[in-house]
This record gives sequence, C-alpha cells and structure tokens, in this order.
Amino acid sequence: MTISPRFLDELRSRLTLSDMIGRRVKVIRAGREFKACCPFHREKTPSFTINDDKQFYHCFGCGAHGDVVNFFMNHDNLSFIDTVEMLCAEAGLTMPQPDPASVRKAEKTRDLNALMDAAADYFTSILHNGGEGETALRYLLERGLTPETLQAFRIGFAPADGQALRKALREEGYKDAQMIEAGLLKPSSKSGGQPYGFFRDRVMFPVSDRRGRIVAFGGRVLPDHLRPPRTDGFTPPKYMNSADTPLFDKGRTLYGESLARQAARAGHTILVAEGYMDVIACHQAGFKGAVAPMGTALTEEQILLLWSMNPEREKNPVLCFDGDKAGRSAAARACERILPLLKPDQSARFAFMPEGEDPDSLIRTGGPHALKEILRAAMPLFDFLWATHTAGRRFETPESRAGLKKALLDQISHIADSDVQTHYRALVHERIAQAFFPHQGARKARNEQKHGGSALPARPKNQGGLKVRRPVKDGLCIQDSILLAAVMNYPAIYESIEDSFGRFTPAAPRLDALRQEIIAVLDRESGLDAAVLRSMLCASGFEQECRDILGESVYVHAAFCRPGADAGQVEALWRDLWRERERRDVLQEVRDGRKEAFRLSSTEEEDRLKSLHQAGAGGAE
Ligand code: UTP
Ligand code: MN
Repeated sequence: MTISPRFLDELRSRLTLSDMIGRRVKVIRAGREFKACCPFHREKTPSFTINDDKQFYHCFGCGAHGDVVNFFMNHDNLSFIDTVEMLCAEAGLTMPQPDPASVRKAEKTRDLNALMDAAADYFTSILHNGGEGETALRYLLERGLTPETLQAFRIGFAPADGQALRKALREEGYKDAQMIEAGLLKPSSKSGGQPYGFFRDRVMFPVSDRRGRIVAFGGRVLPDHLRPPRTDGFTPPKYMNSADTPLFDKGRTLYGESLARQAARAGHTILVAEGYMDVIACHQAGFKGAVAPMGTALTEEQILLLWSMNPEREKNPVLCFDGDKAGRSAAARACERILPLLKPDQSARFAFMPEGEDPDSLIRTGGPHALKEILRAAMPLFDFLWATHTAGRRFETPESRAGLKKALLDQISHIADSDVQTHYRALVHERIAQAFFPHQGARKARNEQKHGGSALPARPKNQGGLKVRRPVKDGLCIQDSILLAAVMNYPAIYESIEDSFGRFTPAAPRLDALRQEIIAVLDRESGLDAAVLRSMLCASGFEQECRDILGESVYVHAAFCRPGADAGQVEALWRDLWRERERRDVLQEVRDGRKEAFRLSSTEEEDRLKSLHQAGAGGAE
C-alpha cells in the first residue's frame, strides 16, 4: 500500500502534535512551544521541544527529530503502516484503500475488533462482579496475580452457560454470524439448535495483536478442586485457544507481543516462555519483554517477529525451555528452525529452567532473582549447538572427533546467510581445536602474544594425574559442589587458588575426576571463558556432573558461585570456604589423633597434635 505525501500532510494537520505526544509523556507549555523530558534519552530537565505550527518535535539533548508519525513509530516501536493506521483512527481518516474489496475487508475487520473488545469486557465483568467469577478471581489472586496485573492483561472469566456471552453481545447489537466468524460461538450441530459459546467455565486470557487489539482468546479450566466433579468422566483440555479467524493467525501471533514490544524499546530483553501464565508472571516480576507462542513450537514467522520487536542493532532474544529431556529436544527443534534464518546481528540464546519449573513457578518459589540468574546464564546459540552434540559423549577416537566436527558442520550448512555461516564454521574449527588440539592453535597464539613471540612451554603444573572415572552413585557433598561450581563459573580465579584447588579432594570420585579434568584444562589454557570451559568439560564426558553442579540446587546454598558476580569477590569467598574446610579437616585429624594418642600415651604425639590444633584454629591454607 502506498501512502501519498498529501495524505500524510492531511493526517498531520488533523492532529495536534503536542496533544498526541502528551499521551505518552508529560508536556509543559513554554511560550509558543511545548517542552517535555525527552523520551528518547535519559534526562531530568526538559530539552525536548514541540512546535505545533511546524508540526515537528526536536530534542536539543539527543537530536531526536521528527513528526507525529516518527514519534509514534519510535516511541511505540511500530512499523510505518501500523503507525499511520493508528493515527488515522485518531484523526478520523480512512486509510487509503486501493480497491473497494479491501475497504470492505477493513470495515469488517474493524467490526470484528470491536466485537472482540466487547467480549473481553464481558469476560472481565463476569470475573469481577461476584457470582460465578468469584472462585476464579480468588484462584488468580491466590496464584499471586495482583489486581493491576489482572487489569493490564484484561483477564476474565467465561461463564458455564453457553448462551450467556451470546445473549450479552446480541444486546449490544452484534450478530451470531460475526461471533461465529470471530470464533466466540460455535454453530450447533443439531439442526435448528442455537449457536453456543466456544469458551465455557474458563479463565479467559485475551490475546492481542502487535498493536494491542484483541484478536483471540485462550481459556484455562479451573483446577480440579475448584470445579464440581463431572459425572461423564470427560476431562476437558487445560487450555483452549481460539481457532484461526480473519483476525487471528496463531503462527504469526505471540501472546504479550504489544506489551513486550513497548518494553523492548525501553531496553527490556525479549524472552520467550511457554505459556500464558509465564508471560503474565514475568511481566509482574519486571521481565516485561516476555512473550509466548500458544501451545505450539515457535514458527518461522514468530522468530522473525521476535527480531522485529527489538529496536537495538543486536537482536538476541532468550528462549526459555524446561530443564528436562523434553525441554532440551524442544530447544533443539527451535534451534533447527532458527539456523536458516540467522542474519548478522540476529541470534537467539537458550535458557533452561530447573527441572519441573516454568518461569512462573520459578518466580513464585525463588523470586525474580532466580529467573534473572537463569536468564543471565542463557547459552549463545553456538554454545547450545556444541552442547547438544557433545552432551554425555566422550570423544576418544579420532573417528568420533571427526564425526563431531562433521555433524556440527552439517548443521551449520543450514545457515542461509553466507557471512554468518562462515563465522560459525570458523567457530567450529576453533572449538574443535581447543578441545582436541589444545597444544596448537589457541594456546600457541596466546603464548606468542604473552611472551612477545617466543613459544614457551606450558607452565609445569600439577597435571591432575590419572583420570579416575568410576561411575559412582553417591550423594554429592554440597560443599564440594560449591567449591567446584565457583571455579567452573569463574575460571579466572583458578590461577590464584590453584594450590588449594590442587590439594582439594572431593569425596565423590566422579567429582574428583571432574576436578582433575578442570585442572588439566585450565593448566593448558588460561583466560578461558566459563561457557567454553563447560563445553570442554561436556566434551570430555562430564555433562552430567556439569548439570548437577551448575544449577539452583547448588546455588541456593551459596549464592556467590552463581554466574554474573564479581570474580574478585567470588575468589575471596572461595578462600573463606576453603579455609573453613581445611580447619575442619585439621580438627578432625586432631580428634582422631587424640584417641590414638590416648591409647599410646605418647607425649610427643600429643605435642604434635596440639600444634596442629593451634594451626587449625587460626586458619590454615
Ligand atoms: P502448561 O500446561 O505448561 O500450562 O502449558 P501453564 O502455562 O504452565 O499454565 P499453569 O501454570 O498450569 O496455569 C503451556 C502452554 O501450552 C498451551 C497454552 O498456551 C499454555 O499456556 N496449552 C497447554 C494448550 O494450548 N492446551 C493445553 O491443553 C495445554
Ligand atoms: Mn505453569
């Protein structure tokens, strides 16, 4: 569709710029102009001016400049056409329509939009006006949703009576045919039967399009204990979603998109959860960039949509998955769908929830902080690819190593953008070299850098000795796990604690094997990043251990070893914990020894133990 400059002139002249901008920011009159604090950069004193005569705004602080269309495109993060359409509605203008058929279509769409809005109002009135909605309202509040959240998401309740919505909307002048077209009613299968409500006895979640107009609904049954038992043994599906309609294309819609689009402009990270409740809980907890597909895997269109939502140059939404096997395979499928679509500066990250949790439940049990940590630990796409191909496998033979490389390169060949593909290919070679040829390539380059060209031999250090890899099913000692987790998340601290780490003997043989592998890797390579270290440990068969150790079950006991903290502080806390442990070991030796000394009555031994005790009590390292 083309929009002529004349049409834009008409649009601009019908709208008062300061009024329109005043809907988004507080505007103060200043002589013949208006002033405001610029919404496009941070400021405390207003340098944003609006001139209604000239119909433009200008910010003397950041240089933002434009007309009413630019303002809303930038402020609401909308496309040009969407902005013009929205402003036309404000100005009482009809969008230029190329032909009568599309004029009719636009009118019809407008009617359906109004109908959906009326339906949403009806459902919210049922939720809030006592009677049938009362149980549902109590349920939602008990789940921790605030009244503000209920309002922001326009959550409602559909009554059990299949005629209730029909009756209410017919009174407002809507026709059965429209309600059927919008997916709100279903025609009766009995001849002469009345159409009836598609959603009955359900909590209702309106689904908006990118501009916030309601286009569909999702409906959730109340949990069993809040519903009268059914006599026919039929179990209704937990969620029902509107079928596709002229307004709603499920595969091109994301729940929460319009709110998230606005939040993205304010710098929020786009994150993709699985369901309605996740999006709502995320918003309430401050993660305002949350969206979700509705019961299906992410489609190509939805992935493109995610990128379009982010106004920054670099677009890197976080996709959240369950921590279980199903979640990992869903992630692998999403990854396959994304690869062909990658473009410069367009990627995705992968975050895994602790097992059995979704973002909503995680926020409820661990607070926003718990989710924040999970999001912070999200894996870049390449790391996720590497991890899926190396998980639980060991690459001891040349054939298996070559096989790994081939599998990665095969997958990467699906990236359509040749430049991005080239960089991925280079990264495969680099990672393979790091994992299997650590004495060449990466280290050599680093040594040359560090020592002005002379390739020095690797530092002679404790090489970790023989690898013990007995599969032991023993309880993991939490303190051992903490000491390991801190080093795994902050490899940079290794150099300054390596003597202690070399003496450290975790109780479980498999953790000791892991420790030895960490030593072997970090002795070989300095400056490793935590993600790379983890990939390498996974590649050498410690996937399970990494998963056991690097997770909430350990972090809850020692927040300091979570990713994202200050390495210096982690090091200090690591030392504290280590000192504590050594002192405990010494005291234990003293205790054991006392018994022995008593038995032998050896004063010499007593004296030795006394001095040990003193050393222990004073702290030893
Ligand atoms: P979940 O079963 O994980 O529900 O489905 P949930 O979002 O965590 O909801 P609560 O916490 O139990 O209330 C995830 C998403 O899958 C879709 C819905 O979009 C849901 O939000 N779904 C689920 C369906 O479409 N149909 C179903 O029967 C179940
Ligand atoms: Mn849930």
